[in-house]
Amino acid sequence: MKNNYPKSLACKPTNSAKILGQVFTPSDIADFMTKLLLENSNKTTDYKILDPAVGPFTFPKAILESGIISKSSCITTVDLDESMAVQTADWFMSKGQSHNVINADYLDLHMDNEFDLIIFNPPYVRQEWLNNKQKYQSLFKDKYNINIPGTSNLYVYFVVKSIIDLKPNGTFVCIIYDSWQSTIFGKWLIDFINQTCAHIQVHALSEQPFRDCLINATIIKGIKKPNFGPINLQTAKQFNNKSNYKDFDGFSSIESIFKPRRGLRLKQADFFLTNTEMINNGATPFIKKIGKIKGFYIPDSHPEAALLVSNNTADPRVIDELEYRINQAKLLPEKNISILAWYNERPDSWYIHPEPPFAKIIFNYYLRNRPRHIFNPNRAYSDNFYGLNIPEDIPVFACLAVLNSTSVCNEIIALSRSQGNGLYKIQLFEYREVYIPDVSKMKTKEIQLLQDLGKSLVEKPAQSTETINEIDDLIWKIYGYAELNPNLFKQPFE
Ligand SMILES: C[S@@+](CC[C@H](N)C(=O)[O-])C[C@H]1O[C@@H](n2cnc3c(N)ncnc32)[C@H](O)[C@@H]1O
Repeated sequence: MKNNYPKSLACKPTNSAKILGQVFTPSDIADFMTKLLLENSNKTTDYKILDPAVGPFTFPKAILESGIISKSSCITTVDLDESMAVQTADWFMSKGQSHNVINADYLDLHMDNEFDLIIFNPPYVRQEWLNNKQKYQSLFKDKYNINIPGTSNLYVYFVVKSIIDLKPNGTFVCIIYDSWQSTIFGKWLIDFINQTCAHIQVHALSEQPFRDCLINATIIKGIKKPNFGPINLQTAKQFNNKSNYKDFDGFSSIESIFKPRRGLRLKQADFFLTNTEMINNGATPFIKKIGKIKGFYIPDSHPEAALLVSNNTADPRVIDELEYRINQAKLLPEKNISILAWYNERPDSWYIHPEPPFAKIIFNYYLRNRPRHIFNPNRAYSDNFYGLNIPEDIPVFACLAVLNSTSVCNEIIALSRSQGNGLYKIQLFEYREVYIPDVSKMKTKEIQLLQDLGKSLVEKPAQSTETINEIDDLIWKIYGYAELNPNLFKQPFE
């Protein structure tokens, strides 16, 4: 497939392929995205599917090859480039698939709330190069009452419009460039997605995925919330989440101290999870369900394990169990769509996961109650947790004490976002920017006191309220900032 994207994005493009942001998705990534899109789809339902930036029919091809959708599901495609529309229409001719090929500017098209499924790789065009920026900005303002930030890349407009064009409960999957992680407009976009969608998944790609193009990318999936019919973004909270403690002497960011890392995503959680009895037969002690953890410690008796096989480990007893399970799964295909898709498409490696991470302290980033950092002596952890690597020269229980102090809890809540219904979430990039007392900069005596208090959290869960009060007092004494005075604290979520 021809790739016309420049090696550097620094210069303003002059040819039309560059102006149109034509960077094509490699087929393995397109397959993965298609799998995410069709995770809960089946052949007996007819869907309305949209690719608003179709290029050389990358996603329609992946969708048809997945074999998951019916011939009467209609695939609508849009491209501003006539030659892409012609190629796509030609390709559809022999496929017997219901389709609708449109050669137009997607951002101009009226399609409110129409689609069940939308998949796309939007054009990458920097705002300085956006010829129609004024037009698009006023269009979104007039038509949808949405103020897109002036600095936005074109992809922001595509993501917003595609969510508008979804039916309630419809699913979108897109691949976007990593500028969303470091820019104000990216934060605005994530806020928009959080407000309008549920079950959001973010898959960071570890390597620069586009040939000859020096950019990283992320796949995002979301399901439009049922109460978002026509979107009115006046409800959107502006992005002004700020660290309270960034300028405090002796405080450092969680990123700089612990290099937090998201846990392992299981290919299909219920398929790979098992109980502790299987640990004696090769299963890996695992932690997934926060509801099963009381207090600040995961004991050896915790009842979760996972059937993990990586490229470097292959316990025959685990393989036997997985083979038994896949045969059972074949009897109940509708409950095992994900794993059967892996099995069919990767018959040799469907059960392989990357090596799972381990971390002595883990943190579940969905918050309904007071944020809790949990001591995890020996378990691999799943992707609903961030895991903290404790530097060798810092005692782990001192870190545990600090991380569970009320000031840190309030800082985490300040940087998190509401998901509705009392649920909050802090994204990894926001969590990294939480500023906390840096144990490595404390005096030996202070570290020792914190270490004892951290141990007490683990060993005496019934006294945790008193212990946390002592931790808060100690931190206030160490630093002396008025903002750390426990008498002035709002308790988290009060
Ligand atoms: C990044 S490419 C993706 C192509 C293909 N979907 C893929 O992933 O390989 C984006 C496509 O969007 C098209 N495009 C650019 N601006 C557009 C617009 N305003 N409306 C619709 N399509 C547009 C480009 O011509 C290009 O084919």
